[in-house]
Amino acid sequence: MINDIINISKEAGELIKEKFGKNFEIEFKTNELNLVTEADKASEKLITDFIKKKYPSHGILAEEGSQAYPAKGGAEYLWVIDPLDGTTNFAHGLPIFSVSIGLQKNGETIAGVVYDINQNIVYAAEVGAGATANEKKIEVSSNSNLAHSMLVTGFPYDVKDNPDKAFERFISMIKSSRAVRRLGSAAIDFCYVAKGVFDGFWEVHLHPWDICAGKLIVEEAGGFVTDFNGNSIDIYTKRILCSNGKIHNAMIENLLIV
Ligand code: IPD
Ligand code: CA
Ligand code: CA
Repeated sequence: MINDIINISKEAGELIKEKFGKNFEIEFKTNELNLVTEADKASEKLITDFIKKKYPSHGILAEEGSQAYPAKGGAEYLWVIDPLDGTTNFAHGLPIFSVSIGLQKNGETIAGVVYDINQNIVYAAEVGAGATANEKKIEVSSNSNLAHSMLVTGFPYDVKDNPDKAFERFISMIKSSRAVRRLGSAAIDFCYVAKGVFDGFWEVHLHPWDICAGKLIVEEAGGFVTDFNGNSIDIYTKRILCSNGKIHNAMIENLLIV
């Protein structure tokens, strides 16, 4: 099935790219920070139409509302889909956005694909088989010193309410590392940890479609993905910490002091 996931991710990516930089409809979701465009909707329709036709018994959990089954349980296979991760970047003309698709079997993620549309890079992983970027094996970095680390984070759409002390955690991390970036696509953040570009990534209030594919890609590249206490997580967990493993405890110390 991994080839199907790769192919449909690329098709959705092409569709999004065609709309990039042109006039497209934008609507607000929960507030005026939280956008959805016609590209998000068209991408989700393309992906979910494909699944419904080829795998009619499979469940779907997708950001813009396509649910063929309840989110938890109900189907042996569950596709967890972010049809456009980085919508704010897309809407403002910043070419950092992706398609993210994870596939779960009985609650365990068995395959994940993130398509970095503008760099034309397919990140892919199957459980137990390693992670790749355009078919070349990728690995997390080997840096064990937080002070020499480049990290990445993101903020949820209710950021102005400082959810879960997001600001304090950001300040703590920026004081302890070499640099903290903020790209605006959580799926790409995970992949850059998997590829060893970033040494670590954390965020509060992520959603299953932000996490599902990226988590597997990082783990298969040799990294750790946990909550802020170092406990194992599932895709419904809200506090996500991901790293090369070597700086994980140092990141936990900084996240927990607030
Ligand atoms: C968002 C992006 C962003 C992260 C937000 C997500 P969207 O997803 O991944 O990097 O900081 O928390 O909601 O809305 O562009 O799919
Ligand atoms: Ca997202
Ligand atoms: Ca999205």
